[in-house]
Amino acid sequence: MSSAGILFRSPVERGRRIESEFASAVLAGLRHQPKELPCKYFYDEEGSRLFDLICELPEYYPTRTETKLLRDKAGEFAQAIGGDVELIEFGAGSLMKAGIVLKALRNPRAYVPIDISGDYLRGMAQKFAKEFPRLPVHPVVADFTKTLKLPQSGARRVGFFPGSTIGNFTRPEAAAFLRRAAVLLKGGGLLIGVDLVKDPAILHAAYNDAAGVTEAFNKNILVRINRELDADFDTDLFAHYAFYNPAQQRIEMHLMSLEAQRANVAGETFAFREGETIHTENSHKYTADGFRALAEEAGFTPKAVWTDPDRLFSLHWLEA
Ligand code: AVJ
Repeated sequence: MSSAGILFRSPVERGRRIESEFASAVLAGLRHQPKELPCKYFYDEEGSRLFDLICELPEYYPTRTETKLLRDKAGEFAQAIGGDVELIEFGAGSLMKAGIVLKALRNPRAYVPIDISGDYLRGMAQKFAKEFPRLPVHPVVADFTKTLKLPQSGARRVGFFPGSTIGNFTRPEAAAFLRRAAVLLKGGGLLIGVDLVKDPAILHAAYNDAAGVTEAFNKNILVRINRELDADFDTDLFAHYAFYNPAQQRIEMHLMSLEAQRANVAGETFAFREGETIHTENSHKYTADGFRALAEEAGFTPKAVWTDPDRLFSLHWLEA
């Protein structure tokens, strides 16, 4: 694979930097009232494996609904996007989704996956090289929630941000991300998947699956903290707690302490009251029109929006 886009000097240097970022983010989150942890740290090897299982769950409709939308509307979005573009994926998540888009676009010039995990990116780049042997792949190891620098290729840039990952941002954070994306993608645009506001019972089931995979995914962040930050969380003393917050139009995931307890993390002790929670994730939901308005305020021109017949999920083409 090409390593032209790898921004850090060595894997060791990168590793140390991420490690200390993880430590300071976890400590800051646990000192915060109410306690919280950044959801981007769910995705270690085990967390990524669990997330892949979530995507297969009968209750978790977003992945299969979006994948079907991408397949069904490929001709339409390819037409809207036009030719001679490079595809920039925010968070190199799924070979399958990017593959559908790359096949639909006529002769894409390059694929630029951006991800915080260099190991993950290297694996993805190898898989792409097999499936698209003539497509240049320029992976970028970076945190796309921060300001990005991308290689200049001259091609029109088309962003791809599937999975409703934008839902992890609060509305002001989403607006800030879209503003930066509109600048980065000027002359091209953004193809983005956004989960829709719907019957809360459907949402509740999607984040409280019967098999307990989402519970394991949520608790795995404590397992990771134990392993990587010399911590001693007893995961059995925390409950998975996920609910729809209608005022904020979001699913909130928490880990709830089942009794008064203490935990040590990187030499610091944290006390938990019985019933106190650590807020681990937000998953915001939008109406199609509400999201278009947000994108427009951020500097995009919203063009087409596609939804499935049950209006579970939306796919937007925004011109920059
Ligand atoms: C990957 C952020 C889109 O919010 O639905 C799935 C993560 N969390 N089940 C989502 C997730 C619990 C997912 N995103």
